[in-house]
Amino acid sequence: MREVNGTVVRNALEEGAIEWGAEILRNGGLVAFPTETVYGLGADGFNQEAVRKIFIAKGRPVDNPLILHIGHRDRLPEVAEGVSEAVIQLAKIFWPGPLTLILKRRATVPAVVSAGLETLAVRCPSHPVALALIETLGHPIAAPSANLSGRPSPTTADHVLEDLAGRIDAVLDGGPTPLGIESTVVDMTSAPPRLLRHGAVPLEELLRFIPGLAVGEGEGMVARPSSPGMKYRHYAPRTRLVLIEGEPEKVADRVAQESSRLFREGLSVALLLTEETAQVVREMLHAGNVQLRTLASRYQPQEVATRLFSVLREVDRLGVDVIIAEGIPAEGWGTAVMDRLVRAAHEVVHV
Ligand code: TXA
Ligand code: MG
Repeated sequence: MREVNGTVVRNALEEGAIEWGAEILRNGGLVAFPTETVYGLGADGFNQEAVRKIFIAKGRPVDNPLILHIGHRDRLPEVAEGVSEAVIQLAKIFWPGPLTLILKRRATVPAVVSAGLETLAVRCPSHPVALALIETLGHPIAAPSANLSGRPSPTTADHVLEDLAGRIDAVLDGGPTPLGIESTVVDMTSAPPRLLRHGAVPLEELLRFIPGLAVGEGEGMVARPSSPGMKYRHYAPRTRLVLIEGEPEKVADRVAQESSRLFREGLSVALLLTEETAQVVREMLHAGNVQLRTLASRYQPQEVATRLFSVLREVDRLGVDVIIAEGIPAEGWGTAVMDRLVRAAHEVVHV
């Protein structure tokens, strides 16, 4: 057990840790906990006052709804109305796991959970700590990602503390989260169903089970985006980030060029590259003054997704003037990676 600015951190595997966390939630407190995607910032989902505190702790806009986490797919009808056969099938296939479904909210769930919307985002996580916490509390847990609004999502307990120490009661430390990127969000209240956020269930996999699935905001929905969270700049490091994407050879050339130009201007630079590009760029640059961090192989986009938020936070801590990051092809897991990188970037360069 340790304490940072009044926020208590406990190893989730320690005896009594889950009961301790559940008791804090029962008393209306905020507890960050690991899920298989990223750390969530939890409150008792049936306690309106507790849920309100989440928005304050994160600095989250009040129109950005939260996800309600349930302990078993069979509990879905307790929080959502009109659960269709199609929804039941999806829940059977993907839960427990990183798929969030937008359904009609039951009146038993306080409106504040979904920022006043009549719909509700629900998922059943697969992480044993998350499941045990929900089970022990005996209520579903409302939880967004446990970062300050706009920052990269946390994949370790230290990331949570970096943003929220002193603003929340407790963190259950369950080690790094296995997937490292948030759940995929699908709106099941629209016809056809619509993918609102790319995430840890790749689009290609969803299409096998929802053939008519639409992607992105529908026409005429721009004024009030159906997934409010997606309208804000997001996942952003504090440092200026330039994203360079295109053919690998051209990207390597451009990264080397841009870095040299910035050095000449007297600016410090950190590079965030795939292993392949890192190798080429290292030879092109006179090493020494370049801070280089690799994501993973560009041929292993899932690995890139898993490491992305953690590496973004790491380069941000270097305190350089500019981060240059490389894009990867937007296919499979690469789609979620590119969605995050584009939102994090101050500037996107296509080569
Ligand atoms: O993997 C995850 O989803 C993590 C873990 C903790 O479960 N949670 C997470 O929550 O990423 P958050 O709050 O950072 O992202 C939830 C997203 C936001 O983009 C939000 O706008 C959208 O889901 N959302 C929530 N309720 C919605 C609703 N009723 N209609 C449309 N979008 C909704
Ligand atoms: Mg978030």
